[in-house]
Amino acid sequence: MKKIVVLTGAGISAESGISTFRDANGLWENHDIMEVASIEGWNANPQLVLDFYNVRRAQLKSVKPNSAHYFLANLDSNHDVTIITQNVDDLHERGGSSKIIHLHGELNKVRSVRNDEVTFDCTENIFLGDLAKDGGQLRPHIVWFGEMVPMMDAAIEETLQADIFIIIGTSLQVYPAASLLDYTKTDAKVICIDPNELPINNNVIHIKKSATEGVNDLVQYIK
Ligand code: OAD
Repeated sequence: MKKIVVLTGAGISAESGISTFRDANGLWENHDIMEVASIEGWNANPQLVLDFYNVRRAQLKSVKPNSAHYFLANLDSNHDVTIITQNVDDLHERGGSSKIIHLHGELNKVRSVRNDEVTFDCTENIFLGDLAKDGGQLRPHIVWFGEMVPMMDAAIEETLQADIFIIIGTSLQVYPAASLLDYTKTDAKVICIDPNELPINNNVIHIKKSATEGVNDLVQYIK
């Protein structure tokens, strides 16, 4: 059975109605990314950051997986598939994929500021003063700029074994996620779906289409 590893980014959820990060003048839902997605931003204004992720968490309830998420989930029936996603939404889960690594955390989880290993499911708003059992303020379980990426080792392990490595909807601007490409086997087939130019070399097959259109072209390469 072929091992397929798929690295996804914001572009795969764009057609579900979730904004990407770098397509709108460097702003994410009208905020500077560093204001709402960095440890410095959290330390400077935790209320703003909590409010920001409360809105993102609520938005998840109004969006649905698209045909690209479902396409990847369907691959599970004939292949050994691992999704490595930079997205904090739960659209791969709701699309039906079974093996998912969230590199940058998950919107529907929170944790104490004192403990980065224990997370709690959370689908509602959190506010300053909402404490975990250890007495620490609850914060979103998101890997912000300036923080370690604890799932990176697991992602590298998967990538090293991939026969086919597929990249969908990521600008490959953010490290260490973008460095996964460097861990592919020399004979692995590498395919990328993104409508825009990317920092990739000629060995990568670039399907210059949106995620929902581009996944249909994958069939010929996966056979
Ligand atoms: P970006 O916003 O940097 O890149 C989105 C990519 O999706 C771009 O390459 C677009 O060309 C592409 N795209 C747009 N619409 C698309 C569509 N319909 N189908 C396919 N591709 C499309 O998002 P990421 O690369 O995911 O981290 O960003 C990486 C990380 O930066 C995020 O996980 C986030 C952010 O800061 C954190 O919040 C920690």
